[in-house]
Amino acid sequence: MGYMDNYERDAYGIVAFWLRSNLEHGQFFDREISHHELELARVNQSMVQNLAGIWQRAEQKQGDLTILVNESQQAISEFQNFLTLGMGKALRCQVIVSAPVALMDHMIREAEESNNVFNLMKSGGHVLVSDSVLHESSFWLRQMADHLAFVQHYLDPTNYELQDKVRGMTHKFERLFLQANALNTIVRKPRTEMLPVLNAFRQMVISETKDLEKFKLELDALIKQCAAITTAPPDLLEHLAREAHHLWRNLEEGMIS
Ligand SMILES: [Fe+2]
Ligand SMILES: [Fe+2]
Repeated sequence: MGYMDNYERDAYGIVAFWLRSNLEHGQFFDREISHHELELARVNQSMVQNLAGIWQRAEQKQGDLTILVNESQQAISEFQNFLTLGMGKALRCQVIVSAPVALMDHMIREAEESNNVFNLMKSGGHVLVSDSVLHESSFWLRQMADHLAFVQHYLDPTNYELQDKVRGMTHKFERLFLQANALNTIVRKPRTEMLPVLNAFRQMVISETKDLEKFKLELDALIKQCAAITTAPPDLLEHLAREAHHLWRNLEEGMIS
């Protein structure tokens, strides 16, 4: 699976992961902006260019890490504000974009999470394994359910079998998300020990998310061969697979990153 070759999990690699995620969001969003919205498209393009420049430096592990993190936070916050403004306009029917509001909200939440992770890196704070499992599950399981809903949104309605499969997987991840939310209050702080119920949940999520990553890569190959009828951008499924990979790796390692 060549797509994971560049995915390093040292500090630079984690910064690069989030920069790449946000910059790809901008690239995907670019396709959804109507030609009536030239100013919106122009601002989005400049955000993408800015993020791409910083991402390349992170990939090459160039420069001081603290400066890189600060610059990344600045650029991602600007992008987050831009999307929030756009979503506000979409909710007031003041802008012509084909991206669903749920997708804009999804990208905003990932921008917010980028900055949470960067703040954690800067503080050097230690997170208990149980806290990290609950945090990662609560955050990412909603994203995983969203991903499947977005895949369905882009898939041509005539892909009946695939539509049915994706719908079933969406429901599975929605249930896992509900379970993560329930465990968030059932397993009370301080979470100094890993309770067996939480560990069983963690193992189940790891296994389901590995399957999800595999499915996303299979669909990615079909889309790249133009063998599935879809309006999804060509690199979307790879992006979604990378996020699934990120979730199960963090769960296995008991960390937030
Ligand atoms: Fe993403
Ligand atoms: Fe996502």
